[in-house]
Amino acid sequence: MSVIIIIVRKIMTKIMKKYDVESSPTLTEKEEHEYQQMKEKIIQLRINNNQENMTRTQIEQLIQTQEIDKEKIINKLITDINGYGKIDPLLQDDNLEEVMVIGENKNIYVYHRKHGMMETNIKMTESESRQVIEKIANQIQRKIDIQTPLLDARLPDGSRVNATIPPITADGSTITIRKFKKDAYTILDLIKNKTINSHLAAFLWTTIEGLNVTSSNIIIAGGTGSGKTTTLNTISQFIPPNQRIITIEDTLELQIPHKHIIRTETRPPNIEDKGEISMDLLLKNSLRQRPDKIIVGEVRSKEAITLFGALNTGHSGMGTIHANSAHETITRLTNEPMNVPTIMINSIDFIIMQNRIYNPHKGTIRRVTEVAEVVGQEGNTPQLNRIYKYDPLTDTLEYSAISCGVINKIASLKAISIKDVNDEIERRKEYLEENLENESLDIHEVQLILNEYYHNSNN
Ligand SMILES: Nc1ncnc2c1ncn2[C@@H]1O[C@H](COP(=O)(O)OP(=O)(O)O)[C@@H](O)[C@H]1O
Ligand SMILES: [Mg+2]
Repeated sequence: MSVIIIIVRKIMTKIMKKYDVESSPTLTEKEEHEYQQMKEKIIQLRINNNQENMTRTQIEQLIQTQEIDKEKIINKLITDINGYGKIDPLLQDDNLEEVMVIGENKNIYVYHRKHGMMETNIKMTESESRQVIEKIANQIQRKIDIQTPLLDARLPDGSRVNATIPPITADGSTITIRKFKKDAYTILDLIKNKTINSHLAAFLWTTIEGLNVTSSNIIIAGGTGSGKTTTLNTISQFIPPNQRIITIEDTLELQIPHKHIIRTETRPPNIEDKGEISMDLLLKNSLRQRPDKIIVGEVRSKEAITLFGALNTGHSGMGTIHANSAHETITRLTNEPMNVPTIMINSIDFIIMQNRIYNPHKGTIRRVTEVAEVVGQEGNTPQLNRIYKYDPLTDTLEYSAISCGVINKIASLKAISIKDVNDEIERRKEYLEENLENESLDIHEVQLILNEYYHNSNN
């Protein structure tokens, strides 16, 4: 029996990679004394000035003695005051997608972009994790206690937090943080890591920007964590810079560098079940704000009808949905709780399927596995025309458009040939490829590159 346990343990440590955090340098007695005094002073100052965070310079000014290692104390003070205790170094690491505290004195887990789930060498006592949770709750004027033992919150940097306290979680308080990626992926990143290819990127660019005569409506479908929001974010950059965008989300995730944008976020009901601002309400409100493009973070419920109503009356929109195929997307949209009438489904131009795939050689990869165009309906069933299809054997995306309604529409509205539109896609594909040679660019730099293309093709 015990032999089996030992073997299992060995296998487990092989499967579960370790993530080690260097412990912070210990303070000498003198430094510790100084540190405690500084901390008292700072707490008092913060109460007096009603100030949450303090800058390094402000803290430096408080330290008078010369005989100690100032740097060491200042660093510790900064993480204690502005940060989140022991999990702070984890939150600073942009390679981590998720940070997970699972209970009292249990090793904290992280989800690493490259290595997947990893066990860290840090643990927190119950009082340490409660301090962190209370700090997070305080920052958004919420409370967590026996009556409301669950907390949904957002950190100032945009990371999403869920926290629970006993007795709801039997083994102590838990904290789950979905970290906000500071430098968002761009379309060039997604081409480089093969999530999409340059032809599809150019195709989406051309059909979303629509050569200024139309703009396609797009739903991105996939499972949780498949990268729907990320893809939505990158292709939002193809919306022409002169358009007015309104975004509607449950939690702010999108980072769109447009100048003319209104970002809105839903609000859950309070303890008395009042004050809820739903997605549907925000969507209805947005229609009174003259949007050119409405972007709904995730379509889940009755806001779907409002969205499709808007698309059917000439508004333009994009969004994501949880579904496993283009067909399932339609089934989900047309059934409870969304109940979109089948006839309205026609207002979608493209359904983009996004998948998270386990590849034996490459590990976890994210791929667009299909792009389908909605092309009218037969009887009561919307018809789909597959435009791109992923081949898992070669890990490539193939363009298989015999005919594409949106391209035909652009050609006809612009009074040019279909070949002209396809040539334009080809030119944009080459332009994107030329720019792949650049070092990793951020969303603002990519926006400049896209704008430059418009500028050059106008001259
Ligand atoms: N194409 C991609 N390549 C690599 N990592 C990705 C990609 N898309 C998303 N990710 C990462 O996967 C996680 C989940 O992505 P997200 O877009 O929020 O998924 P979804 O909206 O489908 O739940 C994020 O941490 C994100 O950084
Ligand atoms: Mg999402």
